Amino acid sequence: MVLENQSIPSVGDLLVEVEQRFAGAELFFGHGTDNARDEAAALVFHVLGLEHGGAPGNYAEPVSEEQRLEVLGLAARRVQERKPLPYLLGEAWFAGLNFMIDERVLIPRSPIAELIATRFEPWLDAGRIRSILEVGTGSACLAIACASAFPGAKVVATDISADALAVARINVAKHDVAGRVQLVEADHLDGIRGTYDLIIANPPYVPRDEMAALAAEYRHEPALGLVSGADGLDSARRILQDAPGLLNADGLLVLEVGAQWQAIEEAFPDLAFTWPEFEHGGIGVAVVQAADLFSRA
Ligand SMILES: C[S@@+](CC[C@H](N)C(=O)[O-])C[C@H]1O[C@@H](n2cnc3c(N)ncnc32)[C@H](O)[C@@H]1O
Repeated sequence: MVLENQSIPSVGDLLVEVEQRFAGAELFFGHGTDNARDEAAALVFHVLGLEHGGAPGNYAEPVSEEQRLEVLGLAARRVQERKPLPYLLGEAWFAGLNFMIDERVLIPRSPIAELIATRFEPWLDAGRIRSILEVGTGSACLAIACASAFPGAKVVATDISADALAVARINVAKHDVAGRVQLVEADHLDGIRGTYDLIIANPPYVPRDEMAALAAEYRHEPALGLVSGADGLDSARRILQDAPGLLNADGLLVLEVGAQWQAIEEAFPDLAFTWPEFEHGGIGVAVVQAADLFSRA
């Protein structure tokens, strides 16, 4: 509570207060930020409606007691419930775009965003991309980011979860891409017809027995979006099996498997995987040329 004779707190004061709260709480960061300071900034700037581009100039702006209490209330929930911040705020930023997010979908964080930013070059001739297929779309963040990066392309995006697809539909409408992003309820690629220039997937890839060891924050996310069989590769196997029949001759498969990248190399020793490095973190995104998939299909 701010007494009348006390000075009015600034954005900078509130940032320090929340950062200290987060830093002392043994939180897991990894759902949009990777440290207490950035997470505090995401919360404070969201509630105050500030632009991150305005920092640090806006640190001196005053904060009303009502705003401060709202921020501290959300910070308390972040600490007590161990709920990832995007679920508390109802939104996440991905590939420079804003998405509506709730606990029906995984929080967007795939490093594939970096490949979308460079339009999958040098592996694809970006100007020729007309058709994109995504498996396991969740919030539709990857599908919509692709639609934005490739304005001349159509995107088909599947998910087995009707709940996830309800959120995806909200985001497709929000970004006004319903004419180019088609959402399909399907088990992986079952029932999908046609051929595509690009198939992307960030499927579940956590081995079943490793779920219990994950930080508490992950338990707020749908297990369907995380777990994939005993070795984490059930979904990846299905995608590798079906992709050859759905790719154009000069097409590309981009398949995220995270920490399972060595396991998939061992499971498919005759397949040429390329593993891009990422500037902003993340590992285990395989790039596979259609020609290499065809030669073993
Ligand atoms: C790791 S999440 C990725 C979500 C989103 N593409 C992203 O990158 O944030 C995996 C998604 O795959 C979906 N999924 C799980 N099993 C599936 C299946 N058998 N067929 C289609 N989608 C599935 C989940 O519902 C979830 O939305």
